[in-house]
Amino acid sequence: MRIIPNTLRIAFAFCAIFVGAVAFTGGPPAGFTGGSTEAACTACHTGAALNAGPAQFTLTASPSFTGGTATISAAFGTTPSIKHGFQFMGKDSSSTYLSGWSLTNNSTTQKNGPNHVNHTGTGTTVTSWSANVTPGAIAAGPVSFYAAGNQTNNNSAPNGDNIYTRNTRVYQAGLSAAATWNIGSVQPLVLAAPTVPYHLYIIAVSELASPSTPLGGVFEVPINLSGQLVSIGWSMPTIFQNFIGALDAQGNATAVVVVPNLIALSGITLHFAYATVAPSNTQVTEVSNGISRMLQ
Ligand code: HEC
Repeated sequence: MRIIPNTLRIAFAFCAIFVGAVAFTGGPPAGFTGGSTEAACTACHTGAALNAGPAQFTLTASPSFTGGTATISAAFGTTPSIKHGFQFMGKDSSSTYLSGWSLTNNSTTQKNGPNHVNHTGTGTTVTSWSANVTPGAIAAGPVSFYAAGNQTNNNSAPNGDNIYTRNTRVYQAGLSAAATWNIGSVQPLVLAAPTVPYHLYIIAVSELASPSTPLGGVFEVPINLSGQLVSIGWSMPTIFQNFIGALDAQGNATAVVVVPNLIALSGITLHFAYATVAPSNTQVTEVSNGISRMLQ
């Protein structure tokens, strides 16, 4: 009577494989981006060491939530494979998940629980995926987004696959400007920080981009404030206009850079970012994304 248990065991094994295949072809379990407290897809998938595979994997995001939403995109650039997958999520500065996801492509992407977005079965045939997220009421400070990508060998099993992880930030205070800055032009800098209306702002200009500068707590200005231009900028209010001021009732303000008409400035790159402070106690309340513009 040994044949019956063996047959049953084989049948169970096949069932397990079948259930596994059904469960994972249409997307991974939630919570495997490799970011913050999460394990990466390497919990099940094996191949090259994490981030050591031959493919290019990127995570890009809108610089800020200006307009109330940000677009998050994960993509494989150069890749030797024909089948790929991903998962991403975002956490605010107090490590709470953002759950305001909305899909822009229901065929290649799906929500996985309230906090994660990943590929569908169809989505494994494409190499880029994106979704929109609205922050809702979240802690002050930038939101961190984390993505994992799987460049697979298409063998319908978790071995031979290369996993990549990336992260990026989206700021609650937005800073934007025109793309091209010519010598002698006048360039508006648009500030939009809807969560801190009426707060004071201070914009810094620096010739140094990195490393970013901690301001205490969760706040870090994403440019290097030890550049010589920082104090020069604040002492030249005819060139760097409205670099200190107050946001309006919607949290908006506009500053201006009057780019001197000096050909010698051509090729110089300027980096800008701002912090907001509460008028009552001058505590930092937000930091913006950084922008970099080369004078030409
Ligand atoms: C709990 C284990 C587990 C985790 C965690 C996991 N996977 Fe998988 N995945 C599997 C298994 C098992 C398969 C093979 C069966 C299948 O294709 O359905 C698979 C298959 C895949 C495939 C199809 C690959 C092929 O060769 O056909 C993709 C794409 C994929 N996973 C992406 C991911 C990504 C991206 C992550 C991380 C965010 C992830 N997986 C995390 C178990 C897992």
